[in-house]
Amino acid sequence: MSVTSRAVVATAFGGPEVLRTVETAPTDPGPGNVLLEVRAAAVNPIDWKMYAAGPGNDPSRLPIRLGLEVAGVVTAVGPSVRWLTPGDEVIAWRVTGGYASHLEVSEQVTCRRPQTLDWAAASGLLLAGTTAVHTLSATGTHDGDVVLVHGGSGGVGRMAVQLAGLRGARVVATGSPATHDDLRELGAVPVAHGPGLLDRVREIERTTGPVTVAIDTVGSDEALDVSVAVVADRHRVATIAGFGRAAELGITALGGGPGADPGTAVREAARAQLAELAADGSLDVRVARTFPLDDAAEAHRESRDGHARGKLVLIP
Ligand SMILES: NC(=O)c1ccc[n+]([C@@H]2O[C@H](COP(=O)([O-])OP(=O)(O)OC[C@H]3O[C@@H](n4cnc5c(N)ncnc54)[C@H](OP(=O)(O)O)[C@@H]3O)[C@@H](O)[C@H]2O)c1
Repeated sequence: MSVTSRAVVATAFGGPEVLRTVETAPTDPGPGNVLLEVRAAAVNPIDWKMYAAGPGNDPSRLPIRLGLEVAGVVTAVGPSVRWLTPGDEVIAWRVTGGYASHLEVSEQVTCRRPQTLDWAAASGLLLAGTTAVHTLSATGTHDGDVVLVHGGSGGVGRMAVQLAGLRGARVVATGSPATHDDLRELGAVPVAHGPGLLDRVREIERTTGPVTVAIDTVGSDEALDVSVAVVADRHRVATIAGFGRAAELGITALGGGPGADPGTAVREAARAQLAELAADGSLDVRVARTFPLDDAAEAHRESRDGHARGKLVLIP
């Protein structure tokens, strides 16, 4: 195969300054795999956490290919591929090295691109979406619940807000004031994070009724303390970012952190459901900004700031 691909790698542990674009040469896809021409690769905080400086970093892992989810077009199929053919438009998660112009992926991690979403939005559906599904399933969120989503304006939070609403729950969502109109449009009652959050949530409860579920995507003491103050049943408080205090508080930690439930089966099963909800217009992905692939470092600086207000996406 004569295609030359470009890929972004972390050449060292540190900040975004260690990112470089390198050339790679994709080979013919192996059994069960397809080659994608990547049209968009979504940025997630885990991407820059993977190469952040810290104790115990193993230099033998370098250079590290980045990017866990993409949208693209199938250009070649390997042996035993069952349902994809060249020209198919797909989204894929969980992949390795998605920050690339071409990428070999297992057919198993793909599903059809919802035509309601452009390439950039489609690339950002699955990681945040499957995480949000896991939070709702772990907390048993159902019709009649009042759900407090910390970081409702973020990638995962915005998904949790929409999916909780689809389950018939009322949603109260934290976000900076600039995000409140968007949160209202998604059906949530917005509330500013920061000092006094507990009092503001108590005030909102006078109209919504008591908060019965809390989903924390921020991991701050404020988010955790407010969650356990308002939710009576600690099994119905879940965090995807506050792993340090989860055991002490007796709440549910989800994902890849220490002691957390990875929820692999729940998340895998959610892939197709999310694509269907997006395809019928029930689920929206907001893209805050796109960047050329070579500007991955700039995208990571913005992601690290924590206020992107939507998905950041690389366009190869
Ligand atoms: N465990 C897992 O399986 C899993 C999966 C995916 C993500 N994560 C983690 O979950 C976190 C969120 O990911 P994401 O993709 O949703 O990030 P994101 O898109 O950057 O969203 C960040 C959110 O945090 C809010 N925020 C930032 N600073 C805050 C503060 N000081 N107080 C309160 N809220 C604040 C932002 O609100 P405003 O911008 O409106 O202020 C925004 O809603 C990251 O740490 C990520 O690594 C974990």
